[in-house]
Amino acid sequence: MKQRILQLLWDEEGYISGSRISGKLNISRTAVWKQINVLRSEGYEIDSQTNRGYRLISIPDLLLPEAVKLELKTETFGQEIVYFDTIDSTNRKAKELASGGAAEGTVVVTEEQTGGRGRLGRSWLSPKGKGLWFSIVLRPQISPLDSPQLTLVSAVGVVKALKAYTGLDLKIKWPNDLLYGGKKVVGILTELAAEFGRVDYIVVGIGINVNTDLEDYPEELRDIVCSLKMVTGREQNRQSLLRLILQQLEQSYLVYLREGFSPIRTEWLKLSGTLGSRVKITESAQAFQGLAEDLDEQGRLIVRLSDGSLHPVLAGEIILI
Ligand code: BTN
Repeated sequence: MKQRILQLLWDEEGYISGSRISGKLNISRTAVWKQINVLRSEGYEIDSQTNRGYRLISIPDLLLPEAVKLELKTETFGQEIVYFDTIDSTNRKAKELASGGAAEGTVVVTEEQTGGRGRLGRSWLSPKGKGLWFSIVLRPQISPLDSPQLTLVSAVGVVKALKAYTGLDLKIKWPNDLLYGGKKVVGILTELAAEFGRVDYIVVGIGINVNTDLEDYPEELRDIVCSLKMVTGREQNRQSLLRLILQQLEQSYLVYLREGFSPIRTEWLKLSGTLGSRVKITESAQAFQGLAEDLDEQGRLIVRLSDGSLHPVLAGEIILI
């Protein structure tokens, strides 16, 4: 109901009377007034005038589900949003919800993470109100062996949305980092739950440094991270950015489900900053160096080693050298 009242206020240029809202939604005027007050307590600024009704003045700069869902053009992604002011990790929470049966497209989003997780056991800094820290529950009917492809699907979706929003020339570093000028802006952590050869669920966790400042990071990270604000020189609106990302992610995901990995691979190749670079790969405690030559049809990075042989890398970490 709160969502529907907000939508009516949003759609109206000026004031909308309490009786029109109550008529449209088939609830009493007292119920309307109560929901308006709930919205106000959440930070929505709503003016009211005796003979005219209510008017939306401003929306809080928070990732509140009702605000994100205004104008959200998706079928499933973000149709259910679970919001936290603070939480340890949205991936942990999304996995908990997914094991309890949460629907595909459920999004867990927070203003701040106190135990944000990165790949390979690293932590992910997620200061309050300064980024997009969120996770999506997916339930694709694919083999668990193909699940690393979802990281590439997500990277393509996020980079397309960010490029459209900011105009920045961001590049994908295989498999899951988005870089600007060689510095990390986005990290993606994909986690899988599977049994008997089928995927139960996949949680894609995405961390985007939107409005973080250099001082938010410890000294040792300052040369290797950056944020959209640092690069563009201005604060970015997290609400509209999240909306756009959810839309673009859903697009890429639907293409993947319908047509397989091949069209995603074609896009990935265009957006990659990895191919043609010399890389160092660490796999089961062994390190190799070589030239990143291609991405194969499964999403593996194909590296030409110094003896001329081709080495496919399915998962792991590469360093651009
Ligand atoms: C990496 O580059 O190592 C991946 C970082 C992924 C961070 C995101 S933030 C939202 C989600 N919740 C987490 O705990 N991690 C992911």
